[in-house]
Amino acid sequence: MESSRAHQRATAIDRMLTPLHRWIWSDGGRRAQKLWRFGETETDGGRDILRAAEVTTDSLLRRLYLEHAIDEFRHGVMFRQRAAALLSTFARHSNSAFQGEWFAPGGHGLDDLQVDDESDQTMLAFLHLSEKAAASRFTVYRDVMQHDPPTRAIFEEILHDETFHMNYTLTQLARVAPQRYRRHIWRARLSRLWKSYLRLATALAGILGLILLTVQYFVLLPPFAWLAKRAARREPSGWTRVSPQRIRQLDRQY
Ligand SMILES: [Fe+2]
Ligand SMILES: [Fe+2]
Repeated sequence: MESSRAHQRATAIDRMLTPLHRWIWSDGGRRAQKLWRFGETETDGGRDILRAAEVTTDSLLRRLYLEHAIDEFRHGVMFRQRAAALLSTFARHSNSAFQGEWFAPGGHGLDDLQVDDESDQTMLAFLHLSEKAAASRFTVYRDVMQHDPPTRAIFEEILHDETFHMNYTLTQLARVAPQRYRRHIWRARLSRLWKSYLRLATALAGILGLILLTVQYFVLLPPFAWLAKRAARREPSGWTRVSPQRIRQLDRQY
Protein backbone atom coordinates (compact mmCIF):
# COMPACT_ATOMS: atom_id res chain seq x y z
CA MET A 1 0.00 0.00 0.00
CA GLU A 2 1.10 3.58 -0.66
CA SER A 3 1.38 4.39 3.04
CA SER A 4 4.32 2.07 3.54
CA ARG A 5 6.47 4.25 1.29
CA ALA A 6 4.82 7.59 1.98
CA HIS A 7 7.20 10.02 3.60
CA GLN A 8 7.95 13.72 3.44
CA ARG A 9 9.11 14.50 -0.09
CA ALA A 10 8.39 17.64 -2.03
CA THR A 11 6.57 17.37 -5.34
CA ALA A 12 8.43 18.27 -8.53
CA ILE A 13 6.53 21.58 -8.79
CA ASP A 14 7.37 22.57 -5.22
CA ARG A 15 11.02 21.62 -5.77
CA MET A 16 11.05 23.62 -9.00
CA LEU A 17 9.76 26.68 -7.14
CA THR A 18 12.47 26.43 -4.45
CA PRO A 19 14.31 29.61 -5.56
CA LEU A 20 11.03 31.53 -5.47
CA HIS A 21 10.22 30.12 -2.01
CA ARG A 22 13.71 31.10 -0.82
CA TRP A 23 13.12 34.66 -1.96
CA ILE A 24 9.58 34.84 -0.49
CA TRP A 25 10.80 33.65 2.93
CA SER A 26 13.95 35.80 2.94
CA ASP A 27 12.18 38.95 4.14
CA GLY A 28 11.75 38.89 7.93
CA GLY A 29 8.53 40.92 8.01
CA ARG A 30 6.94 38.86 5.28
CA ARG A 31 8.05 35.69 7.06
CA ALA A 32 6.34 36.84 10.25
CA GLN A 33 3.09 37.68 8.48
CA LYS A 34 3.04 34.42 6.57
CA LEU A 35 3.68 32.41 9.72
CA TRP A 36 0.86 34.25 11.45
CA ARG A 37 -1.54 33.35 8.65
CA PHE A 38 -0.26 29.78 8.65
CA GLY A 39 -1.11 29.65 12.35
CA GLU A 40 -4.67 30.79 11.68
CA THR A 41 -5.08 28.27 8.85
CA GLU A 42 -3.81 25.42 11.02
CA THR A 43 -6.25 26.33 13.80
CA ASP A 44 -9.15 26.56 11.33
CA GLY A 45 -8.17 23.15 9.94
CA GLY A 46 -8.10 21.78 13.49
CA ARG A 47 -11.67 23.01 14.02
CA ASP A 48 -12.86 21.23 10.86
CA ILE A 49 -11.17 17.99 11.90
CA LEU A 50 -12.71 18.32 15.35
CA ARG A 51 -16.08 18.58 13.62
CA ALA A 52 -15.21 15.46 11.60
CA ALA A 53 -14.56 13.66 14.90
CA GLU A 54 -18.03 14.68 16.09
CA VAL A 55 -19.89 13.47 13.01
CA THR A 56 -18.12 10.19 12.29
CA THR A 57 -19.70 6.98 13.57
CA ASP A 58 -16.38 5.09 13.43
CA SER A 59 -14.81 5.01 16.91
CA LEU A 60 -11.24 4.51 15.69
CA LEU A 61 -11.57 7.40 13.26
CA ARG A 62 -13.01 9.58 16.03
CA ARG A 63 -9.94 8.95 18.21
CA LEU A 64 -7.55 9.59 15.32
CA TYR A 65 -9.40 12.76 14.28
CA LEU A 66 -9.22 14.04 17.84
CA GLU A 67 -5.46 13.47 17.97
CA HIS A 68 -5.18 15.05 14.54
CA ALA A 69 -7.18 18.13 15.61
CA ILE A 70 -4.98 18.54 18.71
CA ASP A 71 -1.90 18.43 16.43
CA GLU A 72 -3.33 21.13 14.17
CA PHE A 73 -4.20 23.38 17.13
CA ARG A 74 -0.64 22.90 18.41
CA HIS A 75 0.75 23.81 14.98
CA GLY A 76 -1.37 26.95 15.04
CA VAL A 77 0.10 27.97 18.41
CA MET A 78 3.67 27.20 17.27
CA PHE A 79 3.31 29.27 14.09
CA ARG A 80 1.70 32.19 15.90
CA GLN A 81 4.29 32.24 18.67
CA ARG A 82 7.13 32.26 16.16
CA ALA A 83 5.34 34.93 14.11
CA ALA A 84 4.97 37.10 17.24
CA ALA A 85 8.69 36.75 17.99
CA LEU A 86 9.59 37.68 14.40
CA LEU A 87 7.08 40.54 14.24
CA SER A 88 8.68 42.26 17.24
CA THR A 89 12.02 42.18 15.40
CA PHE A 90 11.16 42.74 11.75
CA ALA A 91 7.83 44.51 11.48
CA ARG A 92 9.34 47.99 11.31
CA HIS A 93 12.09 47.03 8.89
CA SER A 94 10.01 45.23 6.32
CA ASN A 95 8.51 47.07 3.39
CA SER A 96 7.15 44.02 1.61
CA ALA A 97 3.44 44.01 0.88
CA PHE A 98 3.82 41.00 -1.41
CA GLN A 99 3.07 37.77 0.45
CA GLY A 100 3.28 35.25 -2.40
CA GLU A 101 0.15 33.42 -1.24
CA TRP A 102 -0.29 31.79 -4.63
CA PHE A 103 3.22 30.36 -4.62
CA ALA A 104 3.73 29.71 -0.93
CA PRO A 105 0.38 28.87 0.65
CA GLY A 106 0.08 27.34 4.08
CA GLY A 107 -2.26 24.92 5.75
CA HIS A 108 -4.27 22.11 4.30
CA GLY A 109 -6.91 23.67 2.07
CA LEU A 110 -9.62 22.49 4.45
CA ASP A 111 -11.60 25.63 3.68
CA ASP A 112 -12.71 23.77 0.54
CA LEU A 113 -14.51 21.20 2.65
CA GLN A 114 -18.04 21.04 4.06
CA VAL A 115 -17.33 18.54 6.84
CA ASP A 116 -20.98 17.77 7.61
CA ASP A 117 -21.63 16.75 3.99
CA GLU A 118 -18.70 14.33 3.76
CA SER A 119 -18.64 10.58 4.32
CA ASP A 120 -15.72 8.92 6.14
CA GLN A 121 -14.31 7.87 2.77
CA THR A 122 -14.45 11.27 1.08
CA MET A 123 -13.20 12.99 4.25
CA LEU A 124 -10.21 10.67 4.51
CA ALA A 125 -9.39 10.98 0.79
CA PHE A 126 -9.56 14.77 1.01
CA LEU A 127 -7.50 14.86 4.20
CA HIS A 128 -4.87 12.54 2.74
CA LEU A 129 -4.34 14.78 -0.30
CA SER A 130 -4.39 17.94 1.81
CA GLU A 131 -1.82 16.59 4.25
CA LYS A 132 0.30 15.34 1.39
CA ALA A 133 0.29 18.80 -0.21
CA ALA A 134 1.09 20.42 3.16
CA ALA A 135 3.95 17.96 3.78
CA SER A 136 5.38 18.68 0.32
CA ARG A 137 5.32 22.44 0.81
CA PHE A 138 6.61 22.31 4.38
CA THR A 139 9.55 20.19 3.18
CA VAL A 140 10.57 23.00 0.83
CA TYR A 141 9.90 25.72 3.43
CA ARG A 142 12.11 23.86 5.92
CA ASP A 143 14.85 23.48 3.32
CA VAL A 144 14.92 27.18 2.38
CA MET A 145 14.98 28.28 6.04
CA GLN A 146 18.72 27.83 6.70
CA HIS A 147 19.00 31.50 7.64
CA ASP A 148 16.37 31.12 10.40
CA PRO A 149 17.08 28.00 12.51
CA PRO A 150 14.17 28.47 15.01
CA THR A 151 11.60 28.70 12.17
CA ARG A 152 13.28 25.81 10.40
CA ALA A 153 12.97 23.71 13.58
CA ILE A 154 9.22 24.51 13.72
CA PHE A 155 8.72 23.40 10.11
CA GLU A 156 10.73 20.27 10.83
CA GLU A 157 8.55 19.36 13.82
CA ILE A 158 5.27 20.16 12.07
CA LEU A 159 6.39 18.28 8.97
CA HIS A 160 6.80 15.17 11.12
CA ASP A 161 3.12 15.46 12.20
CA GLU A 162 1.88 16.23 8.68
CA THR A 163 3.62 13.11 7.40
CA PHE A 164 1.88 11.07 10.09
CA HIS A 165 -1.47 12.67 9.12
CA MET A 166 -0.82 11.91 5.46
CA ASN A 167 -0.06 8.27 6.25
CA TYR A 168 -2.82 7.50 8.76
CA THR A 169 -5.52 8.99 6.53
CA LEU A 170 -4.47 6.69 3.67
CA THR A 171 -4.24 3.65 5.97
CA GLN A 172 -7.72 4.37 7.36
CA LEU A 173 -9.16 5.02 3.91
CA ALA A 174 -7.88 1.60 2.82
CA ARG A 175 -9.50 0.12 5.94
CA VAL A 176 -12.96 1.68 5.47
CA ALA A 177 -12.99 1.31 1.65
CA PRO A 178 -10.57 -1.50 0.77
CA GLN A 179 -11.91 -1.95 -2.78
CA ARG A 180 -12.49 1.65 -3.69
CA TYR A 181 -9.90 3.71 -1.84
CA ARG A 182 -7.94 4.58 -5.01
CA ARG A 183 -11.12 5.76 -6.69
CA HIS A 184 -11.90 7.99 -3.69
CA ILE A 185 -8.42 9.50 -3.89
CA TRP A 186 -8.76 10.20 -7.60
CA ARG A 187 -12.15 11.77 -7.07
CA ALA A 188 -10.74 13.98 -4.32
CA ARG A 189 -7.80 14.86 -6.56
CA LEU A 190 -10.13 15.93 -9.39
CA SER A 191 -12.23 17.92 -6.95
CA ARG A 192 -9.12 19.76 -5.68
CA LEU A 193 -8.04 20.42 -9.28
CA TRP A 194 -11.46 21.81 -10.14
CA LYS A 195 -11.46 24.08 -7.08
CA SER A 196 -7.94 25.25 -7.92
CA TYR A 197 -9.13 26.04 -11.46
CA LEU A 198 -12.09 28.00 -10.06
CA ARG A 199 -9.79 29.98 -7.77
CA LEU A 200 -7.46 30.72 -10.69
CA ALA A 201 -10.38 31.66 -12.95
CA THR A 202 -11.77 33.99 -10.27
CA ALA A 203 -8.39 35.65 -9.83
CA LEU A 204 -8.01 36.01 -13.62
CA ALA A 205 -11.52 37.45 -13.90
CA GLY A 206 -10.58 40.00 -11.24
CA ILE A 207 -7.44 41.01 -13.12
CA LEU A 208 -9.28 41.22 -16.46
CA GLY A 209 -12.04 43.28 -14.82
CA LEU A 210 -9.43 45.68 -13.45
CA ILE A 211 -7.76 46.02 -16.87
CA LEU A 212 -11.09 46.59 -18.68
CA LEU A 213 -12.28 49.18 -16.17
CA THR A 214 -8.92 50.98 -16.37
CA VAL A 215 -9.08 51.02 -20.20
CA GLN A 216 -12.68 52.28 -20.05
CA TYR A 217 -11.66 55.01 -17.62
CA PHE A 218 -8.85 56.30 -19.83
CA VAL A 219 -10.42 55.67 -23.29
CA LEU A 220 -14.20 56.15 -22.93
CA LEU A 221 -14.42 58.79 -20.23
CA PRO A 222 -12.19 61.51 -21.83
CA PRO A 223 -14.57 62.18 -24.78
CA PHE A 224 -17.49 62.62 -22.37
CA ALA A 225 -15.39 64.86 -20.16
CA TRP A 226 -14.42 66.93 -23.21
CA LEU A 227 -18.08 67.21 -24.33
CA ALA A 228 -19.14 68.22 -20.83
CA LYS A 229 -16.46 70.89 -20.69
CA ARG A 230 -17.43 72.20 -24.12
CA ALA A 231 -21.08 72.38 -23.07
CA ALA A 232 -20.05 74.17 -19.88
CA ARG A 233 -18.08 76.73 -21.88
CA ARG A 234 -21.19 77.52 -23.98
CA GLU A 235 -23.26 78.23 -20.90
CA PRO A 236 -23.42 81.95 -20.06
CA SER A 237 -21.66 82.69 -16.82
CA GLY A 238 -23.15 84.53 -13.85
CA TRP A 239 -26.75 85.65 -13.34
CA THR A 240 -28.86 85.76 -16.50
CA ARG A 241 -32.24 87.20 -17.20
CA VAL A 242 -35.04 84.61 -17.43
CA SER A 243 -37.62 85.09 -20.14
CA PRO A 244 -41.22 85.76 -18.94
CA GLN A 245 -42.33 82.64 -20.74
CA ARG A 246 -40.06 80.44 -18.54
CA ILE A 247 -41.19 82.22 -15.40
CA ARG A 248 -44.77 81.23 -16.14
CA GLN A 249 -43.63 77.62 -16.34
CA LEU A 250 -42.58 77.74 -12.69
CA ASP A 251 -46.19 77.56 -11.42
CA ARG A 252 -46.49 73.95 -12.39
CA GLN A 253 -44.37 70.92 -11.81
CA TYR A 254 -43.73 69.89 -15.44
FE1 LIG B 1 -0.78 21.01 10.55
FE1 LIG C 1 -1.91 18.07 9.36
